[in-house]
Amino acid sequence: MTMTETAPNASGYRDFSVGGFTFSRDEYFVTITWPTGSHQMDIVQWLRCVQRDVAWGFFYGIVNFDEVIGTMNHYGNVDMFAGRFNEAYRRAEVDYNENFDHDELLGCFTAMLSDWTNEGYDPFAAPMETGSAYGPSRGDNDEAVTRKRVVAQRMVSMPGDEPIRSDESGFPINRGFADVSQDEPVISAEPGYEDQVNSFNLFAYLSRSDVTWNPSVVSACKESLYCPTTEEFILPVIHGNDRVEWFVQLSDEIQWDVEDRDTGAKRARVIMKAGDVSAMPADIRHQGYAPKRSMLLVWENGSPRIPEMIANGEAPVHPVAF
Ligand code: PHB
Ligand code: FE
Repeated sequence: MTMTETAPNASGYRDFSVGGFTFSRDEYFVTITWPTGSHQMDIVQWLRCVQRDVAWGFFYGIVNFDEVIGTMNHYGNVDMFAGRFNEAYRRAEVDYNENFDHDELLGCFTAMLSDWTNEGYDPFAAPMETGSAYGPSRGDNDEAVTRKRVVAQRMVSMPGDEPIRSDESGFPINRGFADVSQDEPVISAEPGYEDQVNSFNLFAYLSRSDVTWNPSVVSACKESLYCPTTEEFILPVIHGNDRVEWFVQLSDEIQWDVEDRDTGAKRARVIMKAGDVSAMPADIRHQGYAPKRSMLLVWENGSPRIPEMIANGEAPVHPVAF
């Protein structure tokens, strides 16, 4: 089974297919077909979702692109589905699921993202900080869509690890964070410990992020990963958790819609202001809304065993009981 692509259509975009799915774009929409149905989405919404699924290697658990289409990561292989987490599609028996090798689906999404992203449009950027995705095919923005996700091995700023950001390295302070102090801590390590004692200004680091809704790993302690991110406008994907996630709101405000992961039934709205902490359960899906650029710390346990531990009852769905 391999991906195929066609010659460009009248708008200049290729069609892509993988397994039973086909994807085509026109000036405004993507059209997705599968053996039992079809679906359309705004191309902006589609590109913003595909960009994240590609950059995150399908992330944790389920990445819903909307209430119909999405992917479910099995860490090595991945499902693409239509209507699988939508009660009406399931009841009508038009839901569809297909399993792919990780690299095969990633290859199709990567090629589609490159072909369908126009010059001047950046799917990671806030809407007010990028050009238009609509219209006939014009150029590309491969520089933006092939960005590598920041994944620190120990911690940002450690020797040989991810560097801190500066004007010189191409990361100016974002307009939303003009008041964030840029002081860096002074470190006085005992001789011989220089490569073990370190610190950096996380607020300054985040103030210079050029992407939105893109958690990056800034520190790792075994499986414990600090994945802060800067947010503005809407998290394009509706993330179906396969483990607990802790959120620490570092600045400003984000509102979250929280739903049952499998049916989409509403469970909660969570309004997080600077300093608020929440634990998102392992059996929900959620989507965030940030009216202005804000900083969010997402704290993950990255162990690939967690979904199995939850299924066996070895790990809880809620991290705390009050
Ligand atoms: C999440 O689903 O937990 C998530 C995803 C992306 C973000 C923030 C949170 O930017
Ligand atoms: Fe999540």
